[in-house]
Amino acid sequence: MSGLLVLRPDDAGRVALLHAKSFSESEAWSAASMRDLLKDPNVLTLGILSDGQLAAFVMGQTVAGETDILTIATDPHQRRKGLAGRLISALVKRVGERGVTRIMLDVAEDNLPARELYRAHGFAEDGRRRRYYRAARNVPVDAILMSRSLSL
Ligand SMILES: CC(C)(COP(=O)(O)OP(=O)(O)OC[C@H]1O[C@@H](n2cnc3c(N)ncnc32)[C@H](O)[C@@H]1OP(=O)(O)O)[C@@H](O)C(=O)NCCC(=O)NCCS
Repeated sequence: MSGLLVLRPDDAGRVALLHAKSFSESEAWSAASMRDLLKDPNVLTLGILSDGQLAAFVMGQTVAGETDILTIATDPHQRRKGLAGRLISALVKRVGERGVTRIMLDVAEDNLPARELYRAHGFAEDGRRRRYYRAARNVPVDAILMSRSLSL
């Protein structure tokens, strides 16, 4: 069984661990910076537990009526079970109830699983930042900007 919950500053260690499992070393966020984000009243972090372990989480920061998805990750052993999709739906519902009208994110052009996840959840591509990320072997990768309107 897996349950959805709002993550708190005390969860910083396990959130940072799951983030580290899901991104390259150069993209790692420390437990301290994770804790600062989890403390931020504008940041909502939702997680899914499976057998007591953090299986997936999403972090959304809301400013001026718009939510930016800062990061999302599913444990490599728990992928393709619909967890990230559940988190996006829950985030959209919660921020929508608080009056958010638009939800945005950026994703590396070569991250096809994430681009497909967002597309499947109603996000459309609406821009590009050239050479925004430094991927493995220091090769620059464009960021694709995506958004979904919640007001329709
Ligand atoms: C992207 C990520 C969060 C998806 O998590 P997940 O829990 O496996 O996603 P879901 O099971 O909810 O997948 C939902 C849909 O997304 C798409 N999708 C997910 N993974 C995919 C893959 N590897 N290839 C193609 N489509 C994929 C599919 O449309 C999928 O629906 P389906 O399984 O019915 O075909 C996960 O792969 C991950 O943690 N990646 C590393 C971190 C990362 O890149 N985060 C995004 C940064 S912007």
